[in-house]
Amino acid sequence: MVTEYGIANLRGKSVRERGMNLIAISHPKFRLWLLEEARKLSLVYRDQVYRSVEYPEDLEAWKVTKSGLRIFLRPVKISDEPLVKEFFYSLSDKTLYRRFASARRDMPHSRIQDFIAVDFSRDMVILALLIRGDREIVIGLAQYSKDERDRTAELALVVRDDYQCQGVGTILHIYMTSIAKKRGLVGFRAEVLEGNLPALKLIKKMGFEMVAVDGGAKEMRIIFDQDEARKSG
Ligand SMILES: CC(C)(COP(=O)(O)OP(=O)(O)OC[C@H]1O[C@@H](n2cnc3c(N)ncnc32)[C@H](O)[C@@H]1OP(=O)(O)O)[C@@H](O)C(=O)NCCC(=O)NCCS
Repeated sequence: MVTEYGIANLRGKSVRERGMNLIAISHPKFRLWLLEEARKLSLVYRDQVYRSVEYPEDLEAWKVTKSGLRIFLRPVKISDEPLVKEFFYSLSDKTLYRRFASARRDMPHSRIQDFIAVDFSRDMVILALLIRGDREIVIGLAQYSKDERDRTAELALVVRDDYQCQGVGTILHIYMTSIAKKRGLVGFRAEVLEGNLPALKLIKKMGFEMVAVDGGAKEMRIIFDQDEARKSG
């Protein structure tokens, strides 16, 4: 199904998934109303969260990693719950622990809302995808959450185990930085567990510095070059 707001591939999807896919490509003015109606009919979750901020289509981009992997980067959509869930369930215990500093593995609907119902006017979630025919496969997810107090944001990245070390994390990092600069943020913060050498290597390469150590986690920070930030704004 195609509308001027996007394409929804409905084949093989559950009724709930079809409902969310169609709402995601409907006119933005009617999305909230459609969601309410779908809720009343129990076609979507009763606690389905929705943010009425427009999907930032201009943030879709193709990139090639240092290993030659062609990936599609795009902001997450409200209809991405199954894709994102599949991604989190595919991660090893070690990768999940490094991302969340917790051994928790489950990703119920309520928890996944934080990753798919995004207020793009302040926060960001970008997916790194492989496109195989009409299938999208998530191999990386980057997010930042803005701190209104100082216009910095907390950055977190995770890449699927079998695609780590191929440059996906670096591309996601560079992409998130360029978006943050364009949107007037002045820097990023990140918390990295002390023994997490790949993440420490990546963010040090990106220019982060350590500002504190707290209970086995390093608090890292980068303040963007303001001249450069103005140029990309
Ligand atoms: C951290 C993470 C996102 C990096 O993603 P990635 O796609 O593997 O990163 P890249 O391939 O772009 O590599 C970035 C740098 O880290 C290094 N690196 C990656 N994996 C490494 C490993 N297992 N051991 C040592 N260095 C490693 C790479 O050599 C590279 O440096 P280089 O460009 O100088 O060669 C990924 O390892 C991950 O998902 N980890 C679990 C979650 C996590 O720790 N998130 C960060 C905290 S929020």
